[in-house]
Amino acid sequence: MIYLINMNSGHSASAHEVSYNFVQAQGESHLCPPAFRIPILRRKILSAEECQLIRDQILEKESEITSQHTSTPIAGLTSGLTTLWSHYNVLTWSVPEQVGLKQRLFDVYREYLQLSEVQPFKNQIQCWANALRKGAGLERHLHSNRPITAISGHLALNTTSAATLYHFPFVMKCSQTQTETYCLKLESEEGWVTFFPSWVQHSTMPYQEDGIRVTMAFDILAEIAKGSPIPFDTGN
Ligand SMILES: [Fe+2]
Repeated sequence: MIYLINMNSGHSASAHEVSYNFVQAQGESHLCPPAFRIPILRRKILSAEECQLIRDQILEKESEITSQHTSTPIAGLTSGLTTLWSHYNVLTWSVPEQVGLKQRLFDVYREYLQLSEVQPFKNQIQCWANALRKGAGLERHLHSNRPITAISGHLALNTTSAATLYHFPFVMKCSQTQTETYCLKLESEEGWVTFFPSWVQHSTMPYQEDGIRVTMAFDILAEIAKGSPIPFDTGN
């Protein structure tokens, strides 16, 4: 199995090294045959200042959104922005538009298509926000709960200790807090976006700090869907 991860400055590991280190860390390389390729691409796309601007707008809109819609429980959460993910699209808000966030995501998306050897497809994007307070996390889940959901992503808007765990799809020994066993652990780092196949199960470790862990997440859909998706055929 190969986890293909490309990283920018601050990370020196090549895709091969990441894969090699992972297998060695498990000490059970026979469980990780080099037969499956799971493309995960990470890029830094926002500065600290841009993250703060978007973060502020998300928190400013939070009470308005949560008061207007009815939550649908998801990944262990029963209330909050995540549970209302289909009712709004952060990419249509003023601050993300001002910083050109959709274009930046689209640039990484094109790179991801090359990495994953997926042909470009006519698509839309649904983008929502997550604001986790102390003690909250996201239980193991995946985004391909409808067949048109193809590629998903996660964008951290502040650096926190609550990492995201990407679970190997064919190895069952994995839990929410067991970070070293059959999971790829990616730290939540301000301004970094992670693209991954929608069928990869993932979870967020419980957030144990006093602030608010603010992130965005998105699905790239193969066709028009219910909710609030917007075209993603070009960055504009
Ligand atoms: Fe998710």
